[in-house]
Amino acid sequence: MAEIIAIASGKGGVGKSFLSSSLAMSLNAGGHSSLLVDADLGGANLHNFLGYKIPPVGIYNFLREKNQLEEIITHTPMGVDFVAGSGDILGIAHITKVERSRVIEKLRQTPYRFVILDLGAGTSFNTVDLFNLAEKKIVAMNSEPTAIENAYGFIKVALYRYLERFLSADHVFADVNKKLRNRSASYPDVELLISDVERVDAEVGSFIRKFVNDYKIGMVLNIVRFKKELNVFYGFETILKKYLSIVVEKLGFIPYDDRVSESIRLMQPFYNAYPESGTASCINDIRDMVLTKL
Ligand SMILES: Nc1ncnc2c1ncn2[C@@H]1O[C@H](COP(=O)(O)OP(=O)(O)OP(=O)(O)O)[C@@H](O)[C@H]1O
Ligand SMILES: [Mg+2]
Repeated sequence: MAEIIAIASGKGGVGKSFLSSSLAMSLNAGGHSSLLVDADLGGANLHNFLGYKIPPVGIYNFLREKNQLEEIITHTPMGVDFVAGSGDILGIAHITKVERSRVIEKLRQTPYRFVILDLGAGTSFNTVDLFNLAEKKIVAMNSEPTAIENAYGFIKVALYRYLERFLSADHVFADVNKKLRNRSASYPDVELLISDVERVDAEVGSFIRKFVNDYKIGMVLNIVRFKKELNVFYGFETILKKYLSIVVEKLGFIPYDDRVSESIRLMQPFYNAYPESGTASCINDIRDMVLTKL
């Protein structure tokens, strides 16, 4: 069974697709076969990071044209196997919960060691639910305040949505659930939520506490120009611990590198073109952290 690695961010344009494609190539180079999936359903562009101008056959064909999963996997010249997104944005921006589970289950049954999901920006149910279905959850950001705020918001929505679904199975938690839907206003701090649940049912309360404590997020800081930007990691970790009581694993950083956008323009995947660069070595460090810590 393949393990799912999901890469999200909250804010757009912070480097999810660059990280996903580079991580897949790095895992492959390290002998861990990986399937890369464009799960940015409303804005698929991962194919550009693999040297394709237009997406080859992809996830649309699986969900809407009834192709088998094996038929929609592209074997790229870089050695990475790839499931493209849909060029037709309106065609597939939203998929149902059943479709999400079906595609994830099928991906898990593929013979790869890992399946990497490049998710869309924002907090749509598509993105948040796919993130919650993954065994390894990664959030990418840069050091800009907007990216940090959106990364925090994304993680909070993802955690609360998971809890909301879990609690909605039992009507005795109807009040808690109602407040939960009102997210930040009612529960700025996850401990307040856990105390409310504990008041209704102590056992469920301690279960929820355990789940929250086990909800692990890996963080990657991208587009780093100055060393001092790394302080963002420590600040972010403190805030997540304080308000959401979850564990953060600092997976590493990627420097700003001019050759990233150039390689997209030239249709030559960065990791492949510059495997000996300092940037590729940072990506390998992140890969090793994903393998050992996440
Ligand atoms: N380390 C880096 N150094 C320099 N430029 C970078 C780096 N990482 C990403 N970029 C640039 O930032 C742009 C956005 O990157 P990318 O498309 O990977 O972000 P994204 O989070 O997937 O965006 P979206 O939310 O639109 O899917 C790219 O066009 C790329 O040129
Ligand atoms: Mg992207």
